[in-house]
Amino acid sequence: MTKILMTSVREDEQDAINAFAKEHNIKIITTPKLIDDAVDMTADVDGLVIQQRSKVDPAVYAKLKANGIKQIATRTAGFDMVDIKKAHENGLTVTNVPAYSPRSVAEHALMQIFRLLRKSYRFDTQVAADDFRWFSDEQAMEIHTATVGIIGVGRIGGTLAKLLNALGAHVLGFDVKPREEMKGIVEYVSKEELLKRSDVISLHVDLNPTSTHLLGAKDFALMKPTAALVNASRGPVVVTADLVDALNKKELAAAALDTFEGENEVVMTDRRKKGLSDVPLIEELHAMDNVILTPHIAFFTNLAVKNMVDFSLEDVLLVLAGKPSPHEVN
Ligand SMILES: NC(=O)c1ccc[n+]([C@@H]2O[C@H](COP(=O)([O-])OP(=O)(O)OC[C@H]3O[C@@H](n4cnc5c(N)ncnc54)[C@H](O)[C@@H]3O)[C@@H](O)[C@H]2O)c1
Repeated sequence: MTKILMTSVREDEQDAINAFAKEHNIKIITTPKLIDDAVDMTADVDGLVIQQRSKVDPAVYAKLKANGIKQIATRTAGFDMVDIKKAHENGLTVTNVPAYSPRSVAEHALMQIFRLLRKSYRFDTQVAADDFRWFSDEQAMEIHTATVGIIGVGRIGGTLAKLLNALGAHVLGFDVKPREEMKGIVEYVSKEELLKRSDVISLHVDLNPTSTHLLGAKDFALMKPTAALVNASRGPVVVTADLVDALNKKELAAAALDTFEGENEVVMTDRRKKGLSDVPLIEELHAMDNVILTPHIAFFTNLAVKNMVDFSLEDVLLVLAGKPSPHEVN
């Protein structure tokens, strides 16, 4: 019977893993450990699925080869934790899960767009402090009267554009590769025009050298002071120090950030006792009542988790059968 090791497994993934094992008549061994600490467990298995943000320990690759492992499947879209060159040198095919559920992140972004337009961040803070009044600058904007700018109209950005279009919002898009199929849904404009015209701007670019620090001081200065920003793409797309500055200067009204620079220091950590003083920019964002922070959970839905498990395991079975995987990373 084929045996596969899955590392960094969370409790919420176990049902999908058990269902896959049953359906495919294979044995799946799971551990909450990173592959760095579980590499010895590969001695007795045929395949491997990992999931971690931290770089895979360079010593792991040769150990996997020595244990007869032929592949590494990461059940995430990102694969920068894997040294592809080192993996290939050790005869390891690397696969990822490029799209597990664009709806998961698009729906999260839509929720944040609603929260920003409805100014829920203000009422959340006030009501938590027993203040049930409302003020004239808290008047909300109905979504079908709003202009929403999407930067990066790819799988997730495109899905969000369709949801917004269905709700009657006017959707502006900026992308280095505009897509014909978005005609009638997205009005493609320059980044500058999008920044000037949008009531909410939502970032959905992939992280690459052209999108790193895509929004900085001079970009925030172009935004309407009543406008808001959503970032559920990748932290380094925004110059965080400039965003903090711009929020302080009231160049924009609010932000909802699921991803932010330095997030690896805080996401999935319990900061209740320790606080955030070692990550001052995040501490500053966290202290602002017009900033909504979430710990990189836009992907974390029923369907996305099932697809991450299923697609990564399907890739393992393909590679073990000597067949090409559509998700091979080179
Ligand atoms: N928060 C989460 O939980 C979560 C989960 C999954 C994915 N993501 C992130 O969402 C983002 C989008 O994912 P996707 O699957 O839709 O990616 P995608 O590759 O389908 O789309 C990205 C789009 O951005 C465009 N783009 C790239 N660089 C650009 C630039 N400099 N200027 C303008 N446009 C640019 C591309 O042409 C493409 O259309 C990624 O950054 C991904 O890491 C976040």
